[in-house]
Amino acid sequence: MLGRVNHIAMAVPDLAAATAVYRDTLGATVSLPQVLPEHGVTVVFVELPNTKVELLEPLGAESPIAAFLEKNPSGGMHHICYEVDDIAAARDHLVRAGARVLGNGEPKIGAHGKPVVFLHPKDFFGALVELEQV
Ligand code: CO
Repeated sequence: MLGRVNHIAMAVPDLAAATAVYRDTLGATVSLPQVLPEHGVTVVFVELPNTKVELLEPLGAESPIAAFLEKNPSGGMHHICYEVDDIAAARDHLVRAGARVLGNGEPKIGAHGKPVVFLHPKDFFGALVELEQV
């Protein structure tokens, strides 16, 4: 069911500072920031040869990563995203297997314009898992 790792996401308290570290210290190509009000984050993409790292900064008081950053003030790994061919089929399979899908269970359009769902970290060994249909 799982395909490639699409991206690994890090929550960061200061997107400009994190961008500078990835671009200037680590020498990576970093995109311009994208403001995603419907997801409560501002994001940049660090382009790597085999995958991407997304750096997420909270946007607005209702940001879904605000509580994570309260617990991890200097930032931390927030989720890993795996590619799937058919997100509805993947979701139905996982629900039948007892996994919990966050939100109302319906795919949302993610940061790349593709349908995504998030799976409860307690069902996946402590890691928040995102599935993205590609
Ligand atoms: Co993601």
